[in-house]
Amino acid sequence: MSFYVTTPIYYVNAQPHLGHAYTTIACDVLARHMRQRGEDVFFLTGTDEHGEPVADAAHALGIEPKELADRNAERFKALMPRLDVSNDFFIRTSDPEHEARVQQVLQRVHDNGHVYKGLYEGWYCPRCADFKVENEILEGNLCPIHEIELVREKEENWFFRLSTFQGPLEQLYAERPDFVMPRRHFNEASAFIAQGLQDVSLSRARLKWGVTVPWDPSHVFYVWFDALLNYYTALGYARPGEDLTDRYWPATYHVIGKDILKFHTVFWPAMLMAADIQVPDHVFVHGFLLGSDGRKMSKSLGNVLDPFEVIDELGTDALRFYLMRDVAFGSDGGVGMDAVRARYEAELANEYGNLASRTLAMILRYRDGNVPATATDSELTAEFDGLPEHVASLLDRAEPTQALEAIWQRVRRCNRYVEERAPWVLARDGGSAPQLDQTLASLAAGVRSLSVLLHPYMPASTARLLDALGEPEFAYSHASFPASVNEGRVSPLEPLFPKRGQ
Ligand code: MSP
Repeated sequence: MSFYVTTPIYYVNAQPHLGHAYTTIACDVLARHMRQRGEDVFFLTGTDEHGEPVADAAHALGIEPKELADRNAERFKALMPRLDVSNDFFIRTSDPEHEARVQQVLQRVHDNGHVYKGLYEGWYCPRCADFKVENEILEGNLCPIHEIELVREKEENWFFRLSTFQGPLEQLYAERPDFVMPRRHFNEASAFIAQGLQDVSLSRARLKWGVTVPWDPSHVFYVWFDALLNYYTALGYARPGEDLTDRYWPATYHVIGKDILKFHTVFWPAMLMAADIQVPDHVFVHGFLLGSDGRKMSKSLGNVLDPFEVIDELGTDALRFYLMRDVAFGSDGGVGMDAVRARYEAELANEYGNLASRTLAMILRYRDGNVPATATDSELTAEFDGLPEHVASLLDRAEPTQALEAIWQRVRRCNRYVEERAPWVLARDGGSAPQLDQTLASLAAGVRSLSVLLHPYMPASTARLLDALGEPEFAYSHASFPASVNEGRVSPLEPLFPKRGQ
């Protein structure tokens, strides 16, 4: 089966920050997990480069928008390896191939009779690059997202007849209760549609930095339509000489933050319908990471968590683990450096890291590095029963936090098992050799199963550990806890998550 997952594409006029890292890592966990299951995966990320904010920023620097976009897109590209993200392609909306495909699709929307020319007048937020409807506007005429003053704009635009998609969208929502996940965001999108949809502006006349409207070259497309189409256009040229559209479209998951819900759950499916293209399977909406004080992160409040500081101090896997663990994916939650350090010590160093080191150390010490070939302990087998299937079903529903919790309960169970069986006591008594063999074999099996399941979250550390266990196999089938263990050899391993200050 094919699995196509996308991140939002990132505005090039900002520095890469935690919010970008968060969505991208979540998508990477899903993509890596699906690859483990042998699915045909395509994982897309990239940059959103057109529109007024980029043109304005370039102007202020005295350079062309393309030059600014080239410079800043590099920073987002460079972010991916630092996060250990396994995207299959990186799209830039200034790619000529993307631009040509945007024109083709929107020409079809035009030819299908879904656009007309009209006068637009409304309250506009330059940061969102979006007009606001009356009931969204905050007191003082402020943008509900950026809390900056809106400007009155009037211009002749091409309009998209969103209103004619009221019925088809209502039908989509009635037939597909999992089109938008989690449920509260499905309800939010349905409520927005139920209010009654107004037509939306599709082009800009004043702006030059965008994709030219093919039937009216004095206009460029409104940046949001150009941007949304990246999910579709990328498949046409990501592999030179090959069109992947039939293979991967419709997308399985668009993962987005809740601030861009309306575009993805209302405008986007309507636009696809207007172009006779299938709508995606699911839009998954995650919450916002807040400062440790529960307030919006802001430099002036000093409550910003910098992903690069975490990576430099504790490593990429620690950042990935923390972001998927500390805030339930889909909800809002506070994050901070103290909390990262606390989880690192308590869970990565003292639980998973310690389980790994003691398992390897005991096999090396008591059995000279040979994993005993014997039956595993039925008590531990029962604890792992159904775990891989449970994790898979949670990740099918884009629930990485719950899946991680299910795995972590078994990390803790294995550590308790070490205490209960006290291999150091068994080792003192020659008569207990069979029990010691069983204990060590069961621990090796448990650590292997856990590491395979944790691999999408912490690719580098789990790879090191599986390697030291002599089992560098990452396929999902290796996640099941076996009834017996084959002979094998382990090798020594430096601590996966060294205690800080050591
Ligand atoms: N360019 C648009 C998306 C176009 S997709 C066709 C955009 N870009 S963005 O760079 O501003 O934001 C990208 C994503 O980062 C959004 O999903 C947004 O919700 C997410 N985040 C930005 N700050 C965030 C937090 N503090 N917490 C979690 N995610 C947040 O929007």
